Formats: sequence, C-alpha cells, structure tokens
Amino acid sequence: MVMHIVGNRPQFIKLAPVSRVLRQRNLEEIIIHTGQHYDENMSDVFFEELDIPKPIENLGVGSGSHAEMTAKAIVAIERAVLKYQPECVIVYGDTDSTLSAAVAVSKLNVPLVHVEAGVRTGNLKNPEEKNRLMVDAVSDILCPPNKISEKNLCIENITPDRICFTGDVMYDQFLFTSNKVARSNLAMQLPKEFALLTWHRQENTCNKMRVKAIIKFLNEINYHIVFPVHPGTKKRLIQYGLLDELGENDKIHMIDPVGYNEMVRLICDCTFILTDSGGVSKEASFADKPCFYMLDLDVWPELEKAGCYYRFDVDDEITFGVAKQKMKQIINGTPWEHEACQFFGDGHAAEKVADSVVKLMETSK
Ligand code: UD1
Ligand code: UDP
Repeated sequence: MVMHIVGNRPQFIKLAPVSRVLRQRNLEEIIIHTGQHYDENMSDVFFEELDIPKPIENLGVGSGSHAEMTAKAIVAIERAVLKYQPECVIVYGDTDSTLSAAVAVSKLNVPLVHVEAGVRTGNLKNPEEKNRLMVDAVSDILCPPNKISEKNLCIENITPDRICFTGDVMYDQFLFTSNKVARSNLAMQLPKEFALLTWHRQENTCNKMRVKAIIKFLNEINYHIVFPVHPGTKKRLIQYGLLDELGENDKIHMIDPVGYNEMVRLICDCTFILTDSGGVSKEASFADKPCFYMLDLDVWPELEKAGCYYRFDVDDEITFGVAKQKMKQIINGTPWEHEACQFFGDGHAAEKVADSVVKLMETSK
C-alpha cells in the first residue's frame, strides 16, 4: 500500500494527479494530512474539487513556529506509519510537512519518494530551501520536475539510480483542469481586466517595512488587482494595522482564498500575474501570461531566462523600477516578449511517478 503525506495547499494540488493515476492502476493508497493548512478554503475545497480520496487521518499540527509544527508532525507521522505499515511513502514539494514526513519515514527505513525534488535557489536563508536539501538527502527516489532540478541532484552527487525524471505533476493538473473549467460566478463579479496577485511568502510578510513597501507598490500600479488573500498574510496585515490601508484602494479586490478551479480561471483570465508563489509563477507560464515574481529568489531559472517572468524585489530600486515600467507597458497593450518554453515535462509526470513507486516497492520487498 502507498501512503501519501501532505499538509498544505500546493501539496493537495500535486497529490491530485498522482492519486488519480494510482487509482487507475488499482494500487491501494491512503492519505495522511498533517493539518498544516486547515481552513476549508485552504484544504477541504481541494479534496472535493480535485476528487482526492478523504485522508485516513488528520494529524492537526496547523499553526505554530517551524520547530513546533515540524516536531509535532514528526511524532504523529511516525505513529501513523507504524500503524498503517505502508510499502512506500510519497511526499511533495518543500514545506515543513514535507520535511517532517521525510524525517519520520526515512528513520523507519520505509521507502520514500520525493515528488518535486532537486529544486534549488541557492539561498539557504529561505525556509523552503532548507527543507528541500534535507528531504532530498534522505529520499530513496527523487522525481525532479524539470531538467535543471535533475542537474542539481547530479551536481550534489546523488547517484543516477535514485533519480527518476518525471516532469511536473503541477503541469499535469493544470492541463487537466484548464481543459474543463468554465467561466465562474466569481469571474462575473470581478472587473473584466485585472491583474492577479498572490502574496504569502515568509520573506514578504514577516517584516512590517517590507509589507508597507509592497502595499505602496500595489497602490502605484493603478490597475484592478484581484487578490485571494492567504490567511497567514491576512493575519500579518491585521497585526501591522495595514489591512484597512490596503482595503481603501478600490482597485484592489481582496477575496478569500479560492479553490483550484477558480484559481485556474483567474490565471487564464487575467492580464498579468504578480506573485511570490513558486507554484503560481510556473502556472503563469503554463497559461502563457506575463508574470512578475516579487521575491529575490532564483526559483525557476529557465523560465526567468526565457523571459516568462520578471523577478523583482521591492527593496531594490532598479528591479522595482523596471517591474513598474514593464507592467505599464502590458497594461497599455504591449505584447509580452518571451521565448517558447516547455520545461516541465509532457503532462504525464504522475504516470512516471507511479512507475517509479511500483519499481521501488518491487525492489524493496
Ligand atoms: C506554507 C509553506 C510554504 C508554502 C505555503 C503554501 C512552510 C514553512 N511554509 O507557508 O512553503 O509556500 O505553505 O501556501 O511549510 N493559517 C490559517 N489557516 C490555514 C493555514 C494557515 O489561518 O488554513 C495561518 C496561521 O496563522 C499560520 C499562518 O497562516 O500560522 C502561516 O501558515 P504556515 O502553514 O505556517 O505557513 P504558510 O505561510 O502557509
Ligand atoms: N492556489 C489556489 N487558490 C488560491 C491561491 C493559490 O488554488 O487562492 C493554487 C495555485 O494555483 C497553485 C497553488 O495553489 O496551484 C500554489 O500554492 P501556494 O501559492 O500557496 O504555494 P507555493 O506554490 O508558493 O508553495
């Protein structure tokens, strides 16, 4: 039996196509939810919309510091693995839930597969980078989403028998959903032309001056902005007394986090995307939308090099100025120039993940 361990929004989306393929192949699977994300619109909505089986257990470790969440989750995951005795565990991405699962599972010597392995930004201050390095170090099979990530693993002397290039399961899911979602009720209530904003990274929310700088920037854009607000960002805005300031701008449409179908619709309908999300910056390229990545992290180097997104930092006058200028051009109708790109596989990554899981279970018997 295969166990998936997930805990937050992007992981539910990554899990969906893998679970779909395992079920098509009649492979038994169970899902453990760490509970890191717990609001209905950060968790349940994805299970319902993406037709993911209900988790067998929710470990309830949401909210708290990195150490608190990680420590609680390690203990609870160890218990769950001992109870259900999976033949293989799959973990996704680079969050604290991924790290906790990798630590608990690898110490029990249960075969471990890491989906979205090998991503590196070279910045060890970034919390996700630490998680990636530790998870990749202990996983038995590493499934990189793009060729650069595969190369990163080779540079780190990971032996080829541990690497299985799959492509990106998020690309699989984006294709699956974007082919079927209809124009939604929400879209009909929003301005016809808008930019889509997502903003939640710790680096951009845990410092009041930086939050202020981002709000100033948003006010200067002077274009309708649709902003599904991550609950963590909302809490910070309230804590800093800045939520009302943002709300005063009637061009900024703050909405609750949306489900994946709605999100894909917003991505496909917007004029451009402004984000600090690793996932959304990729999805912008899947939908061929201009994108501004507002964090100084080299997250998807090939997309940046191809001109698919422009990276800027609100603290850096030069990139900040260029971003504003480029946005103005897009708003005025100048086409977004970039190279054609197909870096994240062929839309069948989940099948390759399933192949590697089956092979690992056979060789570990
Ligand atoms: C986490 C991941 C990040 C990922 C993001 C995806 C870590 C260290 N970070 O960041 O890599 O990009 O998820 O969205 O694992 N909260 C709620 N309701 C929820 C979830 C969170 O109110 O359903 C609030 C809590 O106050 C919580 C805060 O948001 O303390 C931050 O949540 P947390 O899971 O710690 O980190 P994210 O910012 O979501
Ligand atoms: N997403 C969503 N609803 C939202 C915001 C994001 O469905 O309100 C999706 C988004 O399309 C992408 C994933 O959530 O598939 C990215 O998650 P997030 O930005 O929270 O995390 P990151 O990718 O930065 O780790």
